[in-house]
Amino acid sequence: MFHHVKDLQYNARVSKPDPRFAALLLEQFGGENGELAAAMQYFTQAFAARMPHPDKYDMLMDVATEEFSHLEIVGATIQMLLKGVNGELKDAADQSEIMQAMNGKASKENLIHEALTNPQFLTLSAGGPRLTNSQGIPWCASYIHSNGDLTVDLRSNIASESRAKLVYEYLMQFTDDPYVKDTLSFLMTREIAHFEMFHAALSTIEPNYPPGVLQADPRFTNQYFNLSNGESARGPWNQGNMPITNKPWDYISEPISHIHESHGLLHQEKGIEKEIKATEKMNKELSKERSAEVITAEPKGVAQWSTYNGQDRL
Ligand SMILES: [Fe+2]
Repeated sequence: MFHHVKDLQYNARVSKPDPRFAALLLEQFGGENGELAAAMQYFTQAFAARMPHPDKYDMLMDVATEEFSHLEIVGATIQMLLKGVNGELKDAADQSEIMQAMNGKASKENLIHEALTNPQFLTLSAGGPRLTNSQGIPWCASYIHSNGDLTVDLRSNIASESRAKLVYEYLMQFTDDPYVKDTLSFLMTREIAHFEMFHAALSTIEPNYPPGVLQADPRFTNQYFNLSNGESARGPWNQGNMPITNKPWDYISEPISHIHESHGLLHQEKGIEKEIKATEKMNKELSKERSAEVITAEPKGVAQWSTYNGQDRL
């Protein structure tokens, strides 16, 4: 159930109209890394997470609801940045009004440019926010990453928050309005807070690596293929030990001869049979464990999502 509170989560303000920045800000309304995408991603993920992780369901729904609150702030800011423009566009009887409202020729030309680059924004909605990005491309459900595995979803969310943070950081460079900058700084900061929430939630799931259930095949885990000519860059990504599994990297400097000699990697490194057996055992155990977690968490018989203060359990 949702309940709308009429007050914004953050007191968004605008010094003066700025239709060009309003159009740019659409990126965070209906764009790929915008607030609607974040809200829908966490909302969608929450359903599969509820069993056996009701605590993560709660967190995902809370963050999704906060993202809806941010969508509201972005929409309100776009509308305030268009103060006057919307009304003038509706004055169909006097076309010169829009020029006066925009304070002269240069501003009118800017507005015409906006109307040409994103016609839906000004000529279809008269400047009300629409679910498009800054170029007028409609919002798309394929922006959403929801894979039904919490370790995968939480990592997707950390990446989503990183991108959203960066878009706010870039957007802040295109406005001089101190009030708008304040709002953008708030929204950017909340992305950092969400990043930490998802990071912390991931650390409570053990094991959380590799993503999913099946383990890595030990025959192919630690090779780094040097697949380019010239000087090769070396670093912790191809020398020393792997950062998570702590296995030593195997740097294959001559990959073509390695592939030929190993008959397409089928005949290589001996002595890992024990490790292969251990991996197969872990695959079976973890598959059973993950499956049992969900099955035992789900009540038998009739399904009921809510229990209303625990008083009407079926
Ligand atoms: Fe966020």
